[in-house]
Amino acid sequence: MSDTWWKAAVIYQIYPSSFKDTNGDGWGDLPGIISKVDYLKNLGVDILWISPIYKSPQADMGYDIADYKLIDPIYGTNEDIDVLVAELKKRDMKLMMDLVVNHTSNEHAWFVDSISSKSSPKRSWYIWKDPAGSDSNGDPLPPNNWCQLLGDANSAWTYDPESKQFYLSLFTPEQPDLNWETPEVRAAVHDAMRFWLDKGVCGYRMDVINLISKDQRFPDAPVTNDGGKAKYHPGSKWYTNGPRMHEFLREVKREVLAPYKAVTVGEMPGVSDPDEVLKTVHQGDGELSMIFIFDVVDVDFVPGEGRLALRPFKTGDWVKDVVKWQRVMWERDGWNSVFIENHDNPRSVSRYCDDSDEWREKGAKLLALMQTTLSGTIFVYQGEEIGVRNMPKYWDGVLDKKARDHARTPMHWDGSPHGGFCGKDVKPWMRVMDDYVTFNVDVQTNSNSDDDLSIWQYWQRGLSNRKAHADAFVHGEFQSVDNAEGDDVFAYLKVGKESGTWVIVLNFSGDEVQWRMPSNVKVQGWVAGNYLKGKPDKPTEGTIGLRPFEGLLGRSAA
Ligand code: NOJ
Repeated sequence: MSDTWWKAAVIYQIYPSSFKDTNGDGWGDLPGIISKVDYLKNLGVDILWISPIYKSPQADMGYDIADYKLIDPIYGTNEDIDVLVAELKKRDMKLMMDLVVNHTSNEHAWFVDSISSKSSPKRSWYIWKDPAGSDSNGDPLPPNNWCQLLGDANSAWTYDPESKQFYLSLFTPEQPDLNWETPEVRAAVHDAMRFWLDKGVCGYRMDVINLISKDQRFPDAPVTNDGGKAKYHPGSKWYTNGPRMHEFLREVKREVLAPYKAVTVGEMPGVSDPDEVLKTVHQGDGELSMIFIFDVVDVDFVPGEGRLALRPFKTGDWVKDVVKWQRVMWERDGWNSVFIENHDNPRSVSRYCDDSDEWREKGAKLLALMQTTLSGTIFVYQGEEIGVRNMPKYWDGVLDKKARDHARTPMHWDGSPHGGFCGKDVKPWMRVMDDYVTFNVDVQTNSNSDDDLSIWQYWQRGLSNRKAHADAFVHGEFQSVDNAEGDDVFAYLKVGKESGTWVIVLNFSGDEVQWRMPSNVKVQGWVAGNYLKGKPDKPTEGTIGLRPFEGLLGRSAA
């Protein structure tokens, strides 16, 4: 197996609480995942990445880990991991774990020790500071004005009345930040990583790994939140890709990743400078295999404000970021991930297309066609392969568009009660969406229409086509096609060393568009589209009528 086998792999993200319950507690579990390995193989998946399943009080759905070496009983046991790894191996598949080491749970033994006294040997494992003073009521003031990332009205610092000091907790008070300046912390992280690699996992998705190095001066953040009116503000500039981050990652690479040839994807929000990104993902001397760049999924964020501020956007606003990163990686020998969904974001068909009953299927396939033809390592998020959409309108305003829960509803396996996620008499931890009755894996994998594929079958075909022509779709050069008609049509070429040049044309509008093919693009023939199973019957030059959310894949003549 080559050292870069993972580049053409298909990685599937499992949100474990919502995947498949087998023991009747309404919460997904490892035996449930094991029972679906064949399903995933059939889809074309090579690597499963499971969101955190370690011992945790679940203050942030497992992104608050209380023991790095123990599977939480709600999911199963460490032995279940051995079984899963073995079952995957039989099918030539692998497991990727989630590594959350910017912070731990406040119930982790390290923190329990750290908070116990100022003289604890673990005190320096977390970030403790004296108050900045006291307010007019005599209450202690936090060391600076940073806000929490998961609740921006609150301070990122949590007060401990016993020791009269604050600890840094960027996400929530239940998630104290580890102090990576302390060498023993780094050694403990390396040790935890080796534990699962020794069990045969292939690597890690690394949670907010670009936040591990804080500017040790801990300066105040610029006053931006809520138009400057808020009490606390995002301090990101003082801890995103901070002063020692590359040094820490190089150390992780030397100590753990290189010896194990581990595959890594670093979650790196808030970074869009190619020079900075390439230090991490350069194929020669980068620190990690690849990262998640958030420009596309953060397209509706408002700079300087918390995650629940909303900026309206057009297709062209995010397409330009897709183009930017496709070109940067090609020109500068970097490597990227391809993704538009995960457990922190709304569903892609609702966000980038139209999730109405009329257009949902076309939109989901359009996004599949785009992703399966972009260069990089592709990630499919649980449910994306059947076109799961956002929950029906429940909240007003921004939450309706941005709530993380949209992506966390239980999986629709079949038309039985609760979509087959759990037994019929069991109460699922989160309500299953009503449309599971018609929109589910069972219906979509068994569909046998002469005219068209189901969304699932479309994904399956797209992933298999991607692998068959990996030279173009995974590794090839991306070239933009000039588009005179405006932002709604995203068209590009993918150039493969063996399979030649491919043309992809994607109409992201809900209207018919007359798209004029640029004269320098020559199509030999269309080979696939998202309106029917067979080959689209469309002109290969001049003006092409594209129906709402229509996508085409063609072979280039030259
Ligand atoms: C990013 C994870 O994806 C998110 O779910 C979590 O809340 C934060 N990191 C904190 O771990």
